[in-house]
Amino acid sequence: MKRIGMLTSGGDCQALNAAMRGVVKSITNAEQDVEIYGFIDGYKGLIYGNFRMLTSHDFSGILTKGGTILGSSRTPFKLMREPDENGLDKVEAMKQNYYKLKLDCLVILGGNGTHKTANLLREEGLNVVTLPKTIDNDLWGTDMTFGFQSAVNIATDAIDCIHTTAASHGRVFIVEVMGHKVGFLTLNAGIAGGADIILIPEIPYDIDKVVKAIDERHNRGSKFTILAVAEGAISKENAKLSKKELKEKMKNYPYPSVSYEVADKIKEKTGYDVRVTVPGHTQRGGTPCPYDRVFASRLGSEAGKLILEGQYGFMVGIKNREIIRVPLEEVAGKLKTVAPDASIVQEAKMLGISFGD
Ligand code: F6P
Repeated sequence: MKRIGMLTSGGDCQALNAAMRGVVKSITNAEQDVEIYGFIDGYKGLIYGNFRMLTSHDFSGILTKGGTILGSSRTPFKLMREPDENGLDKVEAMKQNYYKLKLDCLVILGGNGTHKTANLLREEGLNVVTLPKTIDNDLWGTDMTFGFQSAVNIATDAIDCIHTTAASHGRVFIVEVMGHKVGFLTLNAGIAGGADIILIPEIPYDIDKVVKAIDERHNRGSKFTILAVAEGAISKENAKLSKKELKEKMKNYPYPSVSYEVADKIKEKTGYDVRVTVPGHTQRGGTPCPYDRVFASRLGSEAGKLILEGQYGFMVGIKNREIIRVPLEEVAGKLKTVAPDASIVQEAKMLGISFGD
């Protein structure tokens, strides 16, 4: 009999349910009895002992279901060592609940912050297996995270829809794409959606270069221009500032996000009609795409295998299309970013896409 605790933490994404289903199916199909404690709303559930007993039936019919059947919340890593408002030691509370329920291990699905806490629990002596989720694809140690491809599809659809109306009206359109501090989502959706200009955090932009790229298109007879702008895109000017200086500057920032600033500057410098579209959280919603269903199922299956073997302290990931096990201490606290000289960036430039650099 295996007793496993499961939780989904951080911002949700597509295929969380598919991944959990994969874990449970692979264990039960090995004819291993399993007791599943589903902690509600991420680490909060583990801290406060809020869980639901689940059976394999709960994981049936959820392959295509978006969101997470366990609920999720953000519990910042930096606050984990700070007592809660009632003086509760959160790390001790998680350990106590783990031991009280006599768990064999925790299965934790999450992104960067989640992995830092998962590693902390490993260091504290708990058995942990993790699965990499996030639409941002910024988790170190894996070529891809699940949720990413589904989000690429949605962001691409948004750019596709904008194309027709941009063409009809001869406008400059900015589609702001999620991704936190990295540009994988924008880069991929931008290329897939045929964006003319892509701005990502890893390649700071010069607004004059952006304007030049728009002007060149217009001079060549193209009536419209599409920009895919990452929510974390940054100007060359701001990229030169220290963290502290940038924070100070941003205190009086007059725009809701960087896209509106870019739009304002383009308008000011060219007089073109500019519009901004922000698909926002739609990028995390809806059903997982087929790639993510397969990928999350494969990861779930490997996580199940680890549990059956009694091997803990790993994140399951993918490298060169093969599912791999990565020691948690190698993953925690590292960010995967787009290399400005990556071949995909060079190829996009060869296609005529400007990065405003
Ligand atoms: O990390 C996933 C993500 O969707 C980022 O792309 C985005 O910056 C952030 O979460 C949004 O967070 P929240 O759901 O808390 O608004």
